[in-house]
Amino acid sequence: MRIVDLINKKREGGVHSRAELDAIVDGYVRGAVPDYQVAAWLMAVCWRGMHVAELADLTRVMAASGQQLDLASIGRPVADKHSTGGVGDKTSLIVMPLVAACGVPVAKMSGRGLGFTGGTIDKLESFAGMRVDLDAEAFVRQLRDIGIVISGQSADLAPADGKLYALRDATGTVPSLPLIASSIMSKKLAAGAQVIVLDVKTGSGAFMREPESAMALARAMVDIGTAAGRRMAAVVSDMSQPLGRSVGNSLEVAEALDTLAGGGQREFTEFATDLASTIVALASDGALGRSEVDRALHSGGGLQMFRRLVEAQGGDTRGFDDRRCLPRARVQRVLTAEADGYLARLDALMVAHASSLLGAGRERKSDPIDLSAGVVLAAKVGEHVVRGQPLATLHANDASRLAQAEAVLRSAVEISAEQVAVAPLILERISG
Ligand code: URA
Repeated sequence: MRIVDLINKKREGGVHSRAELDAIVDGYVRGAVPDYQVAAWLMAVCWRGMHVAELADLTRVMAASGQQLDLASIGRPVADKHSTGGVGDKTSLIVMPLVAACGVPVAKMSGRGLGFTGGTIDKLESFAGMRVDLDAEAFVRQLRDIGIVISGQSADLAPADGKLYALRDATGTVPSLPLIASSIMSKKLAAGAQVIVLDVKTGSGAFMREPESAMALARAMVDIGTAAGRRMAAVVSDMSQPLGRSVGNSLEVAEALDTLAGGGQREFTEFATDLASTIVALASDGALGRSEVDRALHSGGGLQMFRRLVEAQGGDTRGFDDRRCLPRARVQRVLTAEADGYLARLDALMVAHASSLLGAGRERKSDPIDLSAGVVLAAKVGEHVVRGQPLATLHANDASRLAQAEAVLRSAVEISAEQVAVAPLILERISG
């Protein structure tokens, strides 16, 4: 099979067989197919797209390029949750323990965050000593022992994706629905969960700005997972303003703990319990649902499960009882409202940018991250505010970063004399 013929085929809108996709992907991983040919093929995919079955095949070929976890030994369906990434998105820290507390085992392999704030793994490192680099054996053992495990992605998980993503990044071929869907789902399939629930974000702080693109991506990923025999569901959710009240790693951990202790922001708590209910229902064929999740929240079972997770991975759990034991920034500055009115806009992207200026994010994987930096919001869109009232607190260790971050945060805010309608957090639900 000549790779140039496959490039020509895709350029003309042809549909690849699994063997053809294997020739490209496997050949690339082995070093037998050069970058320039794969780059040309990726660009052809960007323009021509992929058919549903073809995309499912591509994803399976990518998933099979490295180690694939076999979680069958757990004896029950194992669940995973994935978000395409948002500002203040600490949902996994609440959903995973709630689901585990309902008796559904949960296993998540997560990448580190790039851009505005850290990812789930960075956030968990707010618990000093927490190990997030478990090997496959330790990962499965902990899952079997306590029913919950969250760790960084093993190096051998879908290596084809790592190599293809680096090439996409350098060749302008990241924004392609089939390439994004196969990239995310190859890692999810290789990580072995039978139940996968996806949260696809849309809005200014999301990778997919337009709801239509987010819905198409969610549909494509649900179809890929379903074709691979997994139980799938997805939501498309709003990311025009940050999720919950905090943005920044240890600040988000504190909010997750407060939420599991019953003191979370109402909309955010509702969102997290909704996702947890979807997962437990899928995993149990409907035998479990909202009432079990609510019980896990109100009884403290979810919080207890989170503590067990941190303990099992060697983390310092003192932050559960005393939030001052989590990383704390040296300086705080309060941003106040400049007028009376209704908060009409709290642009997620700008809040993220401010948080990143304070030190909460990273540009490159190797960059350091300041776990304690970020922004805590005192008001959300739709709420009434009066002049001089605190809108947000900026947290930093480097006081020289505050002025620029404050200016950026100020530009995220708009106050209107008119009452404003607030969009629901969940815009669409997609089932397998
Ligand atoms: N996240 C991924 O893992 N892959 C993409 O292509 C885009 C976002």
